[in-house]
Amino acid sequence: MIKCNNVQEQAQDLSALILQHWQELLAAGDFVLGEEVVKFEAWMSERCNGAYAISLNSGTDALLLAMRGLEIGPGDEVITCANTFVATVGAIVAAGAKPVLADVGDDELINVDTIEPLMNARTKAVIPVYLRGRPLNVNAIIDLCRPRGVAVIEDCAQAIGTTLDGHQVGTRGDASAFSMHPLKTLGGLGDGGMLVTTNTKIADYARRARNHGLETRNESVLFGINSRLDSLQASALNIKVQYLDQWLKRRLEIAAFYDQALIGTATAVDLGGGKPGGSFYHYVVQSKHRDRLQRYLTEYDIQAAIHYPTPIHWQKAWLKNQPQVVLPNTERLSREMLTLPCHHHLTDSDVEKVVGAIKRFELMKIR
Ligand SMILES: Cc1ncc(COP(=O)(O)O)c(C=O)c1O
Repeated sequence: MIKCNNVQEQAQDLSALILQHWQELLAAGDFVLGEEVVKFEAWMSERCNGAYAISLNSGTDALLLAMRGLEIGPGDEVITCANTFVATVGAIVAAGAKPVLADVGDDELINVDTIEPLMNARTKAVIPVYLRGRPLNVNAIIDLCRPRGVAVIEDCAQAIGTTLDGHQVGTRGDASAFSMHPLKTLGGLGDGGMLVTTNTKIADYARRARNHGLETRNESVLFGINSRLDSLQASALNIKVQYLDQWLKRRLEIAAFYDQALIGTATAVDLGGGKPGGSFYHYVVQSKHRDRLQRYLTEYDIQAAIHYPTPIHWQKAWLKNQPQVVLPNTERLSREMLTLPCHHHLTDSDVEKVVGAIKRFELMKIR
């Protein structure tokens, strides 16, 4: 099977190295917020142009603590999109604010045209999502938000390696959230996340809030949560970061190959393909016959996935107590997008097989 992700292979490749480091940590009794965590935060800060990098238990917590750090809560509205992992909206609800869903453009991303009509006096933040690690025009969103006192929290959960003007995204808004879930391009062997910000107040808040507001072992200055990154995860991530750029390069090569090889087929190529800076967390194609194409690829032992088949406003969690909304582009794209395998464990021949199968599907469909 040509798989859509390489979670197992990644862990297996590096298992000897990781286990050796873990044995050292076990011997030292270093389990939570230890030296490995400090080292990983320093790496992330350097990657993000010197911004504060506060490690957490998950990307979801990074979104939540960014909102709490900005004092966003009950009575406030936060605008985001519906074609994202549920965590983006879940974090807004967990912060006590009201999520407001904007439609996306043909590139699957929210933009000023879809955000602006939803803004009102209660709007306190916008969370643009770098879906699939695709670059988005965050500067235009910031230009729209700043004069109105609205914060921009960048959801970079899928965007390690995504760049804007050559720099890692996630440092232009008020704060950003990265996920180190095992499925991510830079994933741990369990949950992990990072809040990145250039705002000292948010950084100070997050650093305290992730550990129950504790200043010393027995003194708490605010009620927070337990969102500490453990040393075992940080140590695995510190090993993986050494390979990250190599892995990202391979993803780009594969994406460029797909772009080129699928030109002229009815299956449209990745919408972010032409834009510089994408990190191809997902490489997607678009097809009116998406479900048939997915089944066809499975027959040829090619796993293709759908991210995300059910937009948030159609999830039971939303329908329970949120207003019904119609998001035509989001809904159409949820029926048409298909994620192809795109990761560094794929060989050239794997990628050729995927392209060959898509081309055969196209011919079969025409007949
Ligand atoms: C777009 C997006 N936002 C937020 C998250 C939440 O990250 P985590 O799973 O680390 O909490 C994810 C994770 O899959 C995601 O893809």
